[in-house]
Amino acid sequence: MSMKKKAEAALLAAHDLNELEELRIGLLGKKGELTAILRGMGGLSAEERPLIGQLANEVRAFIESELEKQKNILMSAARKEKLQAETLDVTMGGRTPRLGKLHPLTTVLNEVKDIFIGMGFSIVEGPEVEYDYFNFEALNIPADHPARDTQDTFYINDNVVLRSQTSSVQARVMQNQEPPIRVIAPGRVYRSDAVDATHSPVFHQIEGLVVDKGITMGDLKGTLEIFMKTLYGEDAVLRFRPHHFPFTEPSAEVDVSCFVCGGKGCRVCKGEGFIELLGAGMVHPRVLERCGIDPSVYSGFAFGLGLERIVMRRMSIDDMRLLYENDLRFLNQF
Ligand code: PHE
Repeated sequence: MSMKKKAEAALLAAHDLNELEELRIGLLGKKGELTAILRGMGGLSAEERPLIGQLANEVRAFIESELEKQKNILMSAARKEKLQAETLDVTMGGRTPRLGKLHPLTTVLNEVKDIFIGMGFSIVEGPEVEYDYFNFEALNIPADHPARDTQDTFYINDNVVLRSQTSSVQARVMQNQEPPIRVIAPGRVYRSDAVDATHSPVFHQIEGLVVDKGITMGDLKGTLEIFMKTLYGEDAVLRFRPHHFPFTEPSAEVDVSCFVCGGKGCRVCKGEGFIELLGAGMVHPRVLERCGIDPSVYSGFAFGLGLERIVMRRMSIDDMRLLYENDLRFLNQF
C-alpha cells in the first residue's frame, strides 16, 4: 500500500530524533493520517470494515516498528558523533607551566647559609623592630656616641628603632646562650639613606658570631678565608684593613680581591684591585661582659657583611635598585 511506502521513505530520510518525532505525530498522532483513516471507517460497509481495520492495524504496527528501528539508528549515530567530538588526544604536547624562581638575593643567601652550616654554624634570627638597647647600648654605643650618626636610623619611640645592623642579634644571642656560640644571623636592616645605585634605606646583612675559649683573630681570618674562597673561588685573596667599630677590638674592614681583574686594578674595583666586603673584629670584652659572658674565660669574633654587595659582585649587577624593583625582565636573567 502506498501509505506504507511513503511512510517508510519519510522515516528513512529523517536526519535526527526531532524530525523523527514530527513524523510520528504526523502519521500516528491524534490528527495523523492513520487516525483519520480509522475515524473515517464509520462510512464503510460491514464487509469492508474488518478488512480496512486489519489493514490499518498492520500499517500502524509496521510504522511503529520502522519508527523504532530508525530511532535506534539515529541514536547510535548521535552517540558516535558525540564520542568523536569529545576525543582526547593524550599524545598532544602540553603547555609548559611558567615556574617562578628564587630572587638573586635569596639564591645567594642560601649559598652563604650552606657554607656556614658546613662549618658548624647555626642560623638565628632577631627582630627588625628592635630595642635601642640591643642595636646600640649593648654594643658599646651609648646615647651620644658619634657612631650612631653614621647609622642614623628610624625611631619608633625613644627606646625602639628599626635595627640599623644585624649586630643587635649578637647581643641577644650572647645574653641567651652559653658559649660555645657559633651562629650567623641574616636579615633586613634599616638606615635613613637616600636611594641611589649603591644605597637603600632597607637592605640585608649577615651577622656572624663565634664565642668560645681561646678564639683568636686567626680563627676569624681562617673562617672568612674559607667562606670567601668557597663563594668566589680558590684564587680569592682577602685583605684586612684596620678599622673601628665600638663593639669589636681590634676591628677590621675586610676586602676581597677583585673578581674581574684578580687584583691588578680595573674599572669595577676603581683601580684598587680589592673590593670592600665586610666589617669584622674580636668581640669587645665590654660587650661580652654586658651580655653576661666572662671575658677572662671566653673570647670571640664577629663579622657583618652586606648581602646586596655580595650579590651585586657575584652577578655583576651595577645598580642596587634593580634588586628591589622586581622587574621580571631583569630577574629572569638569573
Ligand atoms: N655592624 C657593622 C656595620 O653594620 C658591621 C660589623 C659587624 C662590624 C660585626 C664588626 C662586627 O657596619
